[in-house]
Amino acid sequence: MTQVNFQRHRRLRSSATMRAMVKETYLHKEDLIYGLFVVEGQNIKREVPSMPGVWQLSLDHLEEEINEVVELGIPAVILFGIPIEKDAVGTGAYHDHGIIQEATRFIKERHPELLVIADTCLCEYTDHGHCGLVEGETILNDPSLDILARTAVSQAQAGADIIAPSNMMDGFVAAIRKGLDEAGFENIPIMSYGVKYASAYYGPFRDAADGAPQFGDRKTYQMDPANRLEAFREAESDINEGADMIIIKPALAYLDIIRDVRNNYNLPIIAYNVSGEYAMVKAAAQNGWIDEKSVVLESLLGMKRAGADMILTYHAKDVARWLEEK
Ligand code: PBG
Ligand code: ZN
Repeated sequence: MTQVNFQRHRRLRSSATMRAMVKETYLHKEDLIYGLFVVEGQNIKREVPSMPGVWQLSLDHLEEEINEVVELGIPAVILFGIPIEKDAVGTGAYHDHGIIQEATRFIKERHPELLVIADTCLCEYTDHGHCGLVEGETILNDPSLDILARTAVSQAQAGADIIAPSNMMDGFVAAIRKGLDEAGFENIPIMSYGVKYASAYYGPFRDAADGAPQFGDRKTYQMDPANRLEAFREAESDINEGADMIIIKPALAYLDIIRDVRNNYNLPIIAYNVSGEYAMVKAAAQNGWIDEKSVVLESLLGMKRAGADMILTYHAKDVARWLEEK
């Protein structure tokens, strides 16, 4: 045979052992954050129709769930609260006995080592379903900041380990940092949803958390999916305002943004594998059209390869189990 000059890439793929030796990216269960929907009331365990395997749980059903999370070695949960009563200013978000505050105490009493991340937003608590205060059809920026800071402080007082503001008002990190510091919580980190796109992939979440906007959309505060440079501006301002970690959301259609933020900033990055991404995989898997385990692991690996340090995912419990199997 004539000798041509080419590289034999297949040499390093010749056996499972060889492939393992040159593997570049890993998933660890230590990287996982699991999302929980905690609902006010009693004896509620409702599966979210568009998110099979994800449940709205009242406190009396939460214990089982967090025991499982801890046994699986997942280090952190993020809490989304579903209150019974909503009002124009989202009072339930910062109430001392609000659902998130109660759930946080409940978890920290039982599992002090499990990190509780509190989602700091108003959309689940406002009757209009927007992430800030509204006047007519306008989402107000600065007046929302006080309430968000108050919400973060009440979450910290309840024992939250990390504050994760998802509201996308300008200046929310600065306002929350100041609020936390003044209340004596200078050691509580902020995991900012700093790069958050106005995405159709949040559809199932809005059912799960009962937080769909009652008028208009979120495009005046969440980012345009077409924009990349805007992600730099958002990340930069959050970092300047004191964010300790940054969430990029959604994940799969935004892997380039994860890589960009990884290359340009040096703080920990979280990829948010959102509800719509979860729903698509589940639906296809239930139809037998894809192999769920392989597709999920490949997708999450892609997020890590793009530069994410952690992954917030509703698949977390399954992933922790699958990683144990291998
Ligand atoms: C609340 C919030 C949302 C998500 C996380 N926090 C919804 C939204 O902004 O509309 C989306 C999460 C998901 O889709 O899994 N601000
Ligand atoms: Zn919101």
